[in-house]
Amino acid sequence: MLKRISVLVLAGLTAMTVASCGSGGSGGGSGDGAITMGFSQVGAESGWRTANTKSVQDSAKNAGITLKFSDAQQKQENQIKAIRSFIQQKVDVIAFSPVVESGWDTVLKEAKDAKIPVILTDRAVDSKDTTLYKTFLGSDFVEEGRKAGKWLVEEFTSSTDPVNIVELQGTTGSAPANDRKAGFAEIIGADPKFKIIASQTGDFTRAKGKEVMEAFLKSNPDIDVLYAHNDDMGLGAIEAIEGAGKVPGKDIKIITVDAVKDGMQALADGKINYIVECSPLLGPQLMDLAKKVVKNEQVPARVVTEESTFTQEQAKQVLSTRQY
Ligand code: AHR
Repeated sequence: MLKRISVLVLAGLTAMTVASCGSGGSGGGSGDGAITMGFSQVGAESGWRTANTKSVQDSAKNAGITLKFSDAQQKQENQIKAIRSFIQQKVDVIAFSPVVESGWDTVLKEAKDAKIPVILTDRAVDSKDTTLYKTFLGSDFVEEGRKAGKWLVEEFTSSTDPVNIVELQGTTGSAPANDRKAGFAEIIGADPKFKIIASQTGDFTRAKGKEVMEAFLKSNPDIDVLYAHNDDMGLGAIEAIEGAGKVPGKDIKIITVDAVKDGMQALADGKINYIVECSPLLGPQLMDLAKKVVKNEQVPARVVTEESTFTQEQAKQVLSTRQY
């Protein structure tokens, strides 16, 4: 399925200012037009991440960009080390998916001083100084949380009883965990019957999702809904729910985010009730943006990935054509 992508150009003048300040393009590359990109990936915590890594690696190859790839194993200190190493190696452009939102100003300033442009991909940073990076390519995580909340409100529209929700959050301090929580809370907060009775991080992994769901089930006998910030945690939680003798998708309704193959299979099988899509296929756009920023061309300050949602019926229809 072709991914529909939209480019959101924030106020034209702002975008132009951000794009044209900072580095003069190359950080000292070969000067022959060849581009070397240093890419610091979060880790390999989920099916989404695996698909994202493949998209970046394949797209670099297709675009003729030399990729220096570093896996941070979900640790910010590793990402900072990798970025410093890319600066030392004088790559032409640095791209990274920040594991958490805070704590990047110093290293981003070092890249800027070295005149190496930086592209944020997938996740945002909370730096006040937006000239520290050229652009941010990725999903609108708040909107993803809102979509999850809207489905829930619709699903329980005729119920007057309290709806007990447990939430499996993504990595603490990460943009998707913060924003998916906020977007969901914004929508369900309008009706007091929706109660989040437990909320804890599952670190975006299947193993942690299972472990935390087991604990939720032990201390909360009346769970109506699970909202998991990604498919992998939802899939781990399904194992915990089945282990507790309950039927996922029926006794406990489940909403997740991502729409990776395993998640979509569980949705088609009736074990998940609704999935909000988050596309990992960011590689082609990332390479286009990299070519532009290296040439010091203008790029939008924000590029938002356009995404969809899936019900169980829709999952059955599209499952065989999913790319990841
Ligand atoms: O940043 C995107 C999130 O990171 C995905 O939703 C999750 O699966 C991944 O680990």
